Amino acid sequence: MPPIIRTDNLTKKFKNLTAVDHLNLEIEEGEILGLLGPNGAGKTTAILMIATVIRPTEGTAIVGEYDIRKQPNKVRRLLGLVFQEPKMLWVSTPWDIVNWHAKVCGLSTEERKRRVREILEAVDMWEARRKNVHALSGGMRKRVEIAKVLIQRPKIAIVDEPTAQIDIVGKHRIWNMLRELREEGSTIILATNELYEADMLSDRVGIMHRGKLLVCDTPKNLKDSIIGGDIVDIQLEKDVSTQAVQELKSLKEVVKVMQVNPSSLRLYLNQVEEVVPRIMNLLMKQDVPVTSIRMSEPSLDDVFAHYTGLTIEEAQKTGV
Ligand SMILES: Nc1ncnc2c1ncn2[C@@H]1O[C@H](COP(=O)(O)OP(=O)(O)OP(=O)(O)O)[C@@H](O)[C@H]1O
Ligand SMILES: [Mg+2]
Repeated sequence: MPPIIRTDNLTKKFKNLTAVDHLNLEIEEGEILGLLGPNGAGKTTAILMIATVIRPTEGTAIVGEYDIRKQPNKVRRLLGLVFQEPKMLWVSTPWDIVNWHAKVCGLSTEERKRRVREILEAVDMWEARRKNVHALSGGMRKRVEIAKVLIQRPKIAIVDEPTAQIDIVGKHRIWNMLRELREEGSTIILATNELYEADMLSDRVGIMHRGKLLVCDTPKNLKDSIIGGDIVDIQLEKDVSTQAVQELKSLKEVVKVMQVNPSSLRLYLNQVEEVVPRIMNLLMKQDVPVTSIRMSEPSLDDVFAHYTGLTIEEAQKTGV
């Protein structure tokens, strides 16, 4: 099946700043594609071009079967958009906004009544449904913004930082709703600078930095691509022999063995889940029983650092 979205050297320049630099990305129908990167990486600019809100300087994107430059109106019909900073300029209430959206999406009166309530409850805005939007907090506005896309159930949902400013309980609730939306048939593009959100929610993650896409793959493949990125700390009942250390070093997935003290080791390796049983066997055969073992996988931050030399937080701070 052809991808539902394909960007083709999509580029945006603001004067002499290249916000998005020849982006080539394919998004499969039904997936959640996370775009992860620090502030200023170009995520919002990229998705706003795909959503036909801003025009590319160069390149284009095909959404469904339509070109964003030539058939923007057709593209818009496929999309629902959650803005990073929702603007609700008119005087109205969460209920009015979501109900109006449901009307535009063609829901019958009966269904509208039921769904509007269901969704406002799901985003925890039912109690506050009659409040004036000017009186809402940033997090509440964001939840109303998300309710719009949930009621619309667009073919493609583009969500920009959906859980910024939202507390952890609210975040989990929204992640679940986005998963449900995907299960109901939507394809989702998620822009975020939160590692955990990208990791938890995305089928594939595209990592962006300074307008460029560095890499795009499943979170697992991205982590596995870091050579020696998995760490295993092993505490032994007695001192480990040189022979045991040599045998550990000879495992092909093991990149480095550090002897922290005579009875504890730290191993840097790949594919931790497959290697650990073999390590245990090997140590048992060498008659050095294991007291405890702790494993840690690389995070997407390690992947980001692998490509840029910086953690996302460092990139965020220095703005580079
Ligand atoms: N309208 C504009 N005019 C000038 N520069 C802009 C404009 N919009 C974005 N930029 C610049 O383009 C770059 C990319 O911005 P963008 O908002 O796409 O980043 P982002 O990855 O979404 O960041 P954040 O995580 O902070 O939302 C930044 O350097 C930003 O200052
Ligand atoms: Mg942004």
